[in-house]
Amino acid sequence: MIAAQEIRPIQSYVHLEPTKPTKETRANWLRWITDPDIRKWMSGPLPEHPDQVYRWVEAATTDSRRHYFDIYSDNKTVGFVSLRQDQQPETTGEIGIVIGDKQYQSRGIGTKAIAELLMYAKETVHLSSVRALIKPDNEKSIKLFTKFGFSLTDYVTIDNTRLLKFEKQLV
Ligand SMILES: CC(C)(COP(=O)(O)OP(=O)(O)OC[C@H]1O[C@@H](n2cnc3c(N)ncnc32)[C@H](O)[C@@H]1OP(=O)(O)O)[C@@H](O)C(=O)NCCC(=O)NCCS
Repeated sequence: MIAAQEIRPIQSYVHLEPTKPTKETRANWLRWITDPDIRKWMSGPLPEHPDQVYRWVEAATTDSRRHYFDIYSDNKTVGFVSLRQDQQPETTGEIGIVIGDKQYQSRGIGTKAIAELLMYAKETVHLSSVRALIKPDNEKSIKLFTKFGFSLTDYVTIDNTRLLKFEKQLV
């Protein structure tokens, strides 16, 4: 008998492309950000209504300090990964990631996306360190970042939400 893992589709090709303010991006983000299963892991002031989500897309794709990428798998956008460069100092930044199409989670796609983003942060943006703010019960995200060498450095509270601060030096 074939075990379930053996028949699980293998993610052959995952790649990132800069996010563009298209109709498709707006529709995807609205769907992902308003999905309670996704939203519960996000923090900060989250948009709720279509207009707010669309403004988020505009800001993400026009602000030169925000580096957003669509995550492609099976030639389809399944999520996004982001790097928000700080103002002071300019050499640090914060990473965010959402595999919005839930059937694509836990298949190694987040791992591939973070690997590419870290390379981009170091080689292209020339950051010296990056961080991720993660809810304490987000086991998958904690595993994802710690496996890339991120360490827990602090506890922060944003909008009444307690978050773990993980950091990684890139130099
Ligand atoms: C968190 C998230 C980005 C992880 O991406 P992913 O593609 O699902 O994760 P991966 O398949 O690459 O797995 C990463 C690690 O998580 C762990 N993991 C994966 N699925 C898991 C599960 N169902 N339960 C527990 N751990 C799991 C594994 O340790 C894995 O590493 P390994 O394969 O080397 O053992 C993704 O699930 C997601 O978008 N979740 C909702 C939004 C979110 O939480 N964003 C992050 C906010 S900080």
